[in-house]
Amino acid sequence: MERVVVGITGASGSVYGKRCVEVLVSKGFSVELVVSEVGKRVFEYELELPFEEFLSSLPEDLINFYSHNDLFAPISSGSYPVKGMVVIPCSAGTLGHIASGASLNLIHRAADVNLKERRPVVLVLRETPLNRVHAENILKAIDAGATVLPASPAFYGRPKTVEELVDFVVDRALTHVLGKSLGLFRGWTL
Ligand SMILES: Cc1cc2nc3c(=O)[nH]c(=O)nc-3n(C[C@H](O)[C@H](O)[C@H](O)COP(=O)(O)O)c2cc1C
Repeated sequence: MERVVVGITGASGSVYGKRCVEVLVSKGFSVELVVSEVGKRVFEYELELPFEEFLSSLPEDLINFYSHNDLFAPISSGSYPVKGMVVIPCSAGTLGHIASGASLNLIHRAADVNLKERRPVVLVLRETPLNRVHAENILKAIDAGATVLPASPAFYGRPKTVEELVDFVVDRALTHVLGKSLGLFRGWTL
């Protein structure tokens, strides 16, 4: 069973993180899940769903949930085998922590170890517009080996629903973690 680390932060777009976790477990991946302190509050505000209720809806055998401040968690160590990591959505604040290597919580630390282990780390950044600090941090994160994937759905597939827009972003992100698309949207064809 392959493990994927999913970090959900306090950027807008909790729906991306929720869908990402649901898709991964539906495909039989084991999810190592961490939500930041503000991430949990934004999730509950945007989705009008208690985070605990979401957690309890997931198959227990495929979810390892950790507190954001549990730096003793297995995913804090590069010796714990995982396929890769996605931070979805990723706030500008978490991007800055990852880019600078300042690991204050478990999301920062797990990203740090996956980058040093040269595993895929995808940061689904959600902020607009960008200031210079954001742009510099994006460059630093890319230089460290991360994929920075703005939460910016495409419209060439003529999406009809919000779910289709969400699936576009989730599929693009997971493609970069897993090395293959899960086929959540139809790729570009004329
Ligand atoms: C409702 C709400 C929406 C937010 N949206 C964003 C956002 O889209 N992008 C962002 O970078 N920060 C956003 N923030 C601010 C972050 O939550 C804040 O910077 C926080 O400290 C990020 O911490 P975290 O990355 O540990 O979750 C939002 C905050 C709230 C309350």
